[in-house]
Amino acid sequence: MIICSLKSEVGNHINKDLLLGKTIGLVPTMGSLHKGHLSLIESAIKMCDKVWVSIFVNPTQFNNKSDLKKYPYDLKKDIELIKNISEKIYVFAPKTKEMYEDEIKHKNYDFQGVDSELEGKYRKNHFNGVGTIVSKLFCLFKPTKAFFGEKDFQQTLVIQKLIEIENHKTQLVICPTVREKNGLAMSSRNSLLSDELKEKASIIYETLLHLKNNFKTQGFNTLINECINKIDSNNCFKTEYFEIVNSNSLKKLNSFSEKNSHRAFVSVLVDNVRLIDNILLN
Ligand code: PAJ
Repeated sequence: MIICSLKSEVGNHINKDLLLGKTIGLVPTMGSLHKGHLSLIESAIKMCDKVWVSIFVNPTQFNNKSDLKKYPYDLKKDIELIKNISEKIYVFAPKTKEMYEDEIKHKNYDFQGVDSELEGKYRKNHFNGVGTIVSKLFCLFKPTKAFFGEKDFQQTLVIQKLIEIENHKTQLVICPTVREKNGLAMSSRNSLLSDELKEKASIIYETLLHLKNNFKTQGFNTLINECINKIDSNNCFKTEYFEIVNSNSLKKLNSFSEKNSHRAFVSVLVDNVRLIDNILLN
């Protein structure tokens, strides 16, 4: 298995593969891999000649220093998980200096509003940070296809805008959310929760399913308040936002209309660990 930490090494591999006409798949991650990440890698293997997984905890997308500090990282374990899928996968795990040199700063993008809703309201400049690192990765790998999870649906809209703004020749592939048996969306942050809270956090997906089953016939406000109350009835849980929005613009919707595609988004602090999830309603 090839593991690179320098951009120059990656560049050499990529240039050779592009000359040979190979298709390149990129799976950007921040490590602490779980089955959600692995499903992205498996899709990439099916669709591309060469698959690269990047593992880099990107400091510019964390607006909260303690969130960055406690973000789990275990490169050895991640490499073992990737090896179990295939020894042919290439890994890029750079140090911060390799990606940012002496300026750990995000660029400022105009993502035409999709970055300012939902997560954007709670994590200032988060998507500027995501755009900054993904832009660096796209310039380095020139991927034919890049794989992202529906779990972070807002992020996929931001990446699509980034592709358009910077004219990358990359196709975005969105892979479905992988869940625990109890419905909780897999996330690197889940490892920061006790087993008991992980079990109780199934309430998040349960409320999303409840919305999906009832949003056409019941008022949005009443339904959403019902969901928030269910989640927050546990003292360790605090809902940050729970909204039904237009799937494309992410603008809030107050009632059902056949002509809209609706998606529900939720963010909950569980013992101060931020968990997010979303579901397509129609
Ligand atoms: P990270 O949170 O490590 O996620 C990497 C990719 O895995 C993202 O595309 C995310 O949506 C996807 N993913 C996470 N949990 C998933 C699940 N349960 N099912 C399916 N896919 C899942 O997202 C980031 O890193 C960063 O913002 C990054 C894009 C790497 C830029 O730093």
